[in-house]
Amino acid sequence: MMATEQISPDQRSKRPRIAQNGRLMPALEADLAARYDVLPLWQSADPVAALQGAGAGVLALVTSAPVGASASLIAALPNLQLVASFGVGTEQIDLAALQQRGVPATYTPEVLDNCVADTAFGLLISVARGMPAADRFVRRGDWPQGRFGLATRVSGKRLGILGLGRIGQAIARRSSGFDMAVRYTNRQPRSDVPWRFEPSLLALADWADFLVVAAAGGPSSQGLVNAAVLKALGSSGFLINVARGSLVDEAALVQALQQGHIAGAGLDVFAHEPHVPPALLVLDNVVLLPHVASATHETRQAMADLVLANLQAHFEGRPLPTTIPGLD
Ligand code: 8YV
Repeated sequence: MMATEQISPDQRSKRPRIAQNGRLMPALEADLAARYDVLPLWQSADPVAALQGAGAGVLALVTSAPVGASASLIAALPNLQLVASFGVGTEQIDLAALQQRGVPATYTPEVLDNCVADTAFGLLISVARGMPAADRFVRRGDWPQGRFGLATRVSGKRLGILGLGRIGQAIARRSSGFDMAVRYTNRQPRSDVPWRFEPSLLALADWADFLVVAAAGGPSSQGLVNAAVLKALGSSGFLINVARGSLVDEAALVQALQQGHIAGAGLDVFAHEPHVPPALLVLDNVVLLPHVASATHETRQAMADLVLANLQAHFEGRPLPTTIPGLD
């Protein structure tokens, strides 16, 4: 946590007024309250209504990847100078509305890449080797009655990555530790990476033993991993998703898992979080996480420090450390 200097009553009265949309980690909320006059929008069932009469004084909006900032919320802040988001996903922020107003926005990239990539491999190994199911087998006391079944080897297999941004590249780099072949698909091929570009997601799924979803969420990537892609991945293939649930046709995934069209899935994200399709809860060939890929003490503190650094830079008139591309 960044040191929060003591401030005098006079200084306190001069603190910039900011609005907080949604809850944040306690340490960050404490740091914000120590530095700024915080309007807690999350306390209202209707944040836009809560801003009537109070929005004019708000100079910055602090939000997070899952909560974002809608066009109506942005419109209720006529003197908004900055949006600072805790997280790397930006699909819940109305970027066009901010662009129209010339309001910069910041996020927290890079500091979470390694934890998310670690989680992708944790899910990949867990589901391929059936580790959670094996753990349940031991805890149920089933071992004395017989051996746990055989699983799928990871080392030496083929890793396909959908989305080769910073997180996708961190995942690809980890493959060398498992002697895996890597191919990827992306909006555009990258000239700065050693891995082979595959323009077709279907062809990538057909080639891969493990297909990892690491692309950005939002309307342009909605449902990319559909029934045809899952069928191409095949009955010995595994799907890993550490990006956004919206990228996968969740009903098609459930059906593919139930009917053995794919071997298994490791999922950290879902279409309607925190709600997970009940059909997934009873499947042994699925590993389920509650969107925790970046949820380590170290990474979340680094994300919080970036939010504070962006706010401080803005109010001190310095360049912003991590602006969302196109919103600097
Ligand atoms: C967290 C994420 O869910 O950064 C993102 O886009 O999805 C995760 O890191 C989020 O940041 C926590 O609010």
